[in-house]
Amino acid sequence: MEVIIAPEPELSTLVADAIERLVREDPSPVLGLATGSSPLSVYDELTKRHEQDGLSFAKVRAFMLDEYVGLPASHPQSYHNVIDTEFASRVDFAKGAVQGPDGTAEDLRAASAEYDHAIAEAGGVDLQILGIGTDGHLAFNEPGSSLSSRTRVKTLARQTRIDNARFFDDDVDAVPQHCLTQGLGTILEARHLMLIATGGHKAEAVHQMVEGPVSSMWPATVLQMHPHVTILVDEEAASRLQLGDYYRHIYANKLEGQRL
Ligand code: GLP
Repeated sequence: MEVIIAPEPELSTLVADAIERLVREDPSPVLGLATGSSPLSVYDELTKRHEQDGLSFAKVRAFMLDEYVGLPASHPQSYHNVIDTEFASRVDFAKGAVQGPDGTAEDLRAASAEYDHAIAEAGGVDLQILGIGTDGHLAFNEPGSSLSSRTRVKTLARQTRIDNARFFDDDVDAVPQHCLTQGLGTILEARHLMLIATGGHKAEAVHQMVEGPVSSMWPATVLQMHPHVTILVDEEAASRLQLGDYYRHIYANKLEGQRL
């Protein structure tokens, strides 16, 4: 696990650089997309590179992490719609190339299994963008989630619904109670995971994720088990890290040719 402590927009530039490298070098790249505010500047940067440098997403497939249950794709806050508005419709993905779990399916269990199957069929995710919830959730894997879980229905924690109420006119009750989410086991199958966290409200979750004991009480701690994770945090989100100075030292003293 590599921890990079830097201000924005440096963090999102690093993620955009890694995505650009993948998209330009890999013949059939597969991206993992996240919702939430943390990746928004990455999407803005990639859109800029698409418009100004011709970075094309025409051959890229993308899989989203999660979706609310019961919101039609046309609802402004369905994650399908959010990803489309924030990123997919601004670049040149082929039709149908961006997929998410189907939160409107009649059989949610079958839809979940189909989604895991579709990711595997595409060859697995090469680079997964992640954010983290203030309670340490990844995607919508709330505290208590099995560390080897697959895509499935979850019931959102009260804290997550409070955190997300800002997207629903500050009405907590308007935030759906259920979601479909990639499991922690599904997420761990991506080849490279890049997680962005900014702001003091993420500091405890970041500390637990990087330095706490691996536990389903802080689901993001499962990332400690993955061989290729990059954690990108600003000073505020890094403020509770015990080894902050060591992470800074590592990043400032990389060997020639050492990449993220
Ligand atoms: C939601 C999403 C997560 C995201 C989290 C943090 O719950 N399901 O994927 O990481 O919010 O969001 P933000 O980046 O807005 O803090």
